[in-house]
Parts: sequence; C-alpha cells; structure tokens
Amino acid sequence: MSVLVTGGAGYIGSVTVDALLAAGESVAVLDDLSNGHREAVDPRVPFYESDTEDGETLAGIVKRHGIKQLVHFASFISVSESVQTPLRYFDNNLGKMVKMLSVLQSCGVENVVFSSTAAVYGEPEYVPIDEDHPQKPLNPYGLSKYFAEQVLDWVDAAYGMSHVALRYFNASGATAAKGEAHRPESHLIPLALQVPLGKRARLAVYGDDYPTPDGTCVRDYIHVADLADAHVKALAYLREGGASQKINLGNGKGFSVREIVTAAEKVTAAAIPFRVEPRREGDPAILIASSEKARKILGWTPRYPELEDIIRSAWEWHKTHPSGYST
Ligand SMILES: NC(=O)c1ccc[n+]([C@@H]2O[C@H](COP(=O)([O-])OP(=O)(O)OC[C@H]3O[C@@H](n4cnc5c(N)ncnc54)[C@H](O)[C@@H]3O)[C@@H](O)[C@H]2O)c1
Repeated sequence: MSVLVTGGAGYIGSVTVDALLAAGESVAVLDDLSNGHREAVDPRVPFYESDTEDGETLAGIVKRHGIKQLVHFASFISVSESVQTPLRYFDNNLGKMVKMLSVLQSCGVENVVFSSTAAVYGEPEYVPIDEDHPQKPLNPYGLSKYFAEQVLDWVDAAYGMSHVALRYFNASGATAAKGEAHRPESHLIPLALQVPLGKRARLAVYGDDYPTPDGTCVRDYIHVADLADAHVKALAYLREGGASQKINLGNGKGFSVREIVTAAEKVTAAAIPFRVEPRREGDPAILIASSEKARKILGWTPRYPELEDIIRSAWEWHKTHPSGYST
C-alpha cells in the first residue's frame, strides 16, 4: 500500500517523507514547488512537480503507485498573507483540496492525514486547548483549514474516506538533513537565527501589549520530527480501521516571543536585538495545546520536548544551510 504526500517538498512534508521511508512505507510526492524545494525530497522518492488541482496527474500517480492513503500538506501557510489575500488562500487551501479529494476518492484512495492547525481555534477561551475547544478562526488561513476539516467530515460520511486532521501548534526545529526554509520566512525561530547568521540586523517582534506575562505572544513549539512521527502513526491508525479524528499536536508548554529570543541567544551564544512593531492582524495572544488525545489515540509522545533542544537542532541546520536549500 502506497502513500501520496502533497507538499512533500516543504518543511514538515520533507521531514515526514523521511520518517515514512524509515518506517518502510512506499511514498510518492506531489508538490508544485511554489514554496518547496526539490532538494528537500529524498532522491529515491518518485517526485511530481504539479499542482494539487491537476486531476489528470493525480489519477496517474494513484494508478502508477497503487496509492491508498494521502498525507495532505500542500497549502499556503502565512496568517498575515491570508489576511491580505484571503481569496488566494481559500482557493489554494480549500478549493483545490476539494477538487483533489473528488479525484482521489473516485480513484479509490481510502484515507487522508490532513495538516490542520491551531489557527482553527482563534483566541483561546482556556488553555491548554483541547480538541473540543470552540472554533472561531481569526484569519482566512485558520478559516480555510476549519472549512477543510468540515469537508473531510462530509467526505467520510458520504464515501467512507476516513481521516485524521492533525492540528499542529508551532512546527519548529530540524533534522540533520532537513530544515525550515520558507520563502519568505515568517516563523519566529528561523527569523531569530538569521541575526547570528549575519543575514538580518535585528528581529521584529509584533506586539508587546498582549495579555501575557511579558506582553508578547505565547506559542507551543513542537519539533518537526515529532510531527512527522505523528503522521506515521496516524496512517497506521487509519489503515487498521480507526475512525476519523481531529487531533492536536503540541508540547503543552507555552513560550513567549521574548523567551524564544532569550533561548536562541543562549543556544547561539550571540545577542539577538529586536524591535517592537505593531501587532499583526489575526494573531491570538496565547496558543498552548493539550495533546492528551494524540497520546491516547495514536500512542504518540514527543521525543524532543525541550525548547533549547528544538532551537539547537534548528541552529545546527541553519549553520550548514545559511541560505536554505540553495547552498
Ligand atoms: N509550519 C507550521 O508551523 C505549521 C503549523 C500548523 C499547520 N501547518 C500546516 O502544515 C502544512 C505544511 O507546512 P510547512 O510549514 O511545511 O509549509 P511549506 O510551505 O514548507 O510546505 C507546503 C508545501 O506545499 C506546496 N504547495 C502549496 N500549494 C500547493 C499546490 N496547490 N499544489 C502543490 N503543492 C503546493 C509548497 O510548494 C510547499 O512545498 C501546511 O498545510 C500548513 O498549513 C504548518
């Protein structure tokens, strides 16, 4: 049984492809390289440079490789960009996904592991956030994922195509081979590390007047290898007949932007100056996960829960790839 990974040339996708290969899975990757890197995909893996809405290519891949399961990473990922260009986000993250699912369903694909996000919750009413927390997304990115989850529910009800929607909190860190190289980069840890790498004079911190202990946003950082491991487990769960689920993935601990800067300074032994800028639209103050359900249903436990270990792994990768995959 083979697995199609869309967005497998991206950050989390490329690490997950490596984890699937290590687990003995047979994998094919589809990515349009709008934000991914061909070099991030293991050369042993069949790679298709294509858009998720290209039904002919999708049907061909399913037939050629005997695909029965899908891991769907392909999407646009920036909260602030989604506020500026919501239709682009709804088109890519929702419209194209609907088209893709109709092709894959008719070709006999049985299950989906879907990249969802903490952004489906909006401003927390309590923390840690569990999966029953009310969902009031604050931005088009979160809303596109919220709608996509609803689509998956109806697809399961009508066609029996089951899914696990994994709601990641802040993906971070790197493996020895694969790291974070978004274009443009919008995530805090790689941006902070660009200062000691000499690629940025200072970091921008968006807002220091949030209702948090130091006024900066608090997030739950989860190592990308731990996310990858959860995908391997979710595919096995679905293959064994497990019912559709929505599952949070985080460490259950929150760190403020200022705390991340301090930890990055410690790991890199360098000063990371920052300037406070206005808040970004659509950013909740605090996002911290309860991952009890992941532990219970998938038997998943994070192997790299310590913040400094996460930042150190990212630092090691960025030191060897100062310009991302282009070096
Ligand atoms: N990075 C995080 O902290 C985070 C947190 C929560 C959820 N997620 C979700 O995880 C997934 C992966 O995130 P990432 O950080 O690896 O992002 P990424 O941008 O590195 O990877 C996404 C990949 O999808 C590809 N892609 C986008 N649209 C496509 C399309 N229409 N057809 C084919 N390929 C397409 C891009 O080229 C890219 O390689 C996304 O769905 C994102 O919403 C990420």
